[in-house]
Amino acid sequence: MRTFFTAAILLFSSFYLEADSIPAISVFSDSQEVGKAAAQKIADVIIKKKQEGQTPIVLGFATGNTPIPTYAAFKKLVRETNLDLSDVITFNLDEYIGLPTSHSQSYYSFMFSYLFDDLVASPTNPHGIKRENIHIPKGATSHEEDLSQEELTALAERFPDRQGTALSLEEQFWIAEQRANAYEALIEQLGPIDLQILGVGRNGHIGFAEPGTSFESTTMVAKLTENTRNINSSFFDGNVNEVPEFAISMGIRTILNAKEILLLATGSSKAAIIDEVLKSPISSDVPCTALRLHEKTSFFLDEDAAVIYKK
Ligand code: F6R
Repeated sequence: MRTFFTAAILLFSSFYLEADSIPAISVFSDSQEVGKAAAQKIADVIIKKKQEGQTPIVLGFATGNTPIPTYAAFKKLVRETNLDLSDVITFNLDEYIGLPTSHSQSYYSFMFSYLFDDLVASPTNPHGIKRENIHIPKGATSHEEDLSQEELTALAERFPDRQGTALSLEEQFWIAEQRANAYEALIEQLGPIDLQILGVGRNGHIGFAEPGTSFESTTMVAKLTENTRNINSSFFDGNVNEVPEFAISMGIRTILNAKEILLLATGSSKAAIIDEVLKSPISSDVPCTALRLHEKTSFFLDEDAAVIYKK
């Protein structure tokens, strides 16, 4: 019996050690240098796949403060090297539920203002990213006019007694769930994602996969924690009541399905979570630890974010 238990423990620990692969960590002087290195990494993935004749190239993007220098550096690099983006497909991680796409704090607005406005194909930029290749989840709102004809028909079938034009919360959730499932299916169809860019929340979330989210989760309707809403209120003039409570977010399985993952973390507010992500047990309590189950993950950190981990 004792031999059996010893064998079982050895087997388990060898599996655990094999599964737990510490990401490749690079530390840069500051957030600008992280941005430059990350932009170069994105360009390298595009160039390599092109050289191998393996187009399209599928990129996963994140929003938030962290990737802003990356997007600025990437736009510069594209301009300076005339990088052809016509074979690039993009998928964003998440979008708030309840904000129309046109809202200044929607992730749609964020991505266009920090990245896509300057990269989207046009008569003057024929090698840009084709508009139809840009994918950002569409968060549901209470307005019927935000629905496609197909969605309106499906909604009427699912809620035959519905009245008026405003969507109830239940109806919004139902639409959001349909959109989340369709988004996951589209990633499966056009993917896998070649390179997924990530930031990390101070509580260890990735996308809006908050603590407690299953590692097997796929694109889903996610509830934001109060902690995340408080932190994100800085984007809403400090008014936490304006921060949506829900979002559509890639799940952890969706993220792990990417061929390669690049996590960015900058600033001292990320030092504690980076230390925890790298040193604590792999657990859904800290969703970012799931990245240690992925064999091709890199962390690009600045000195401030790496300070505790390096001690
Ligand atoms: C953004 C996202 C989030 C952020 C994270 C860090 O699309 O999904 O997980 O990456 O909240 O945000 P910042 O970069 O603002 O610290």
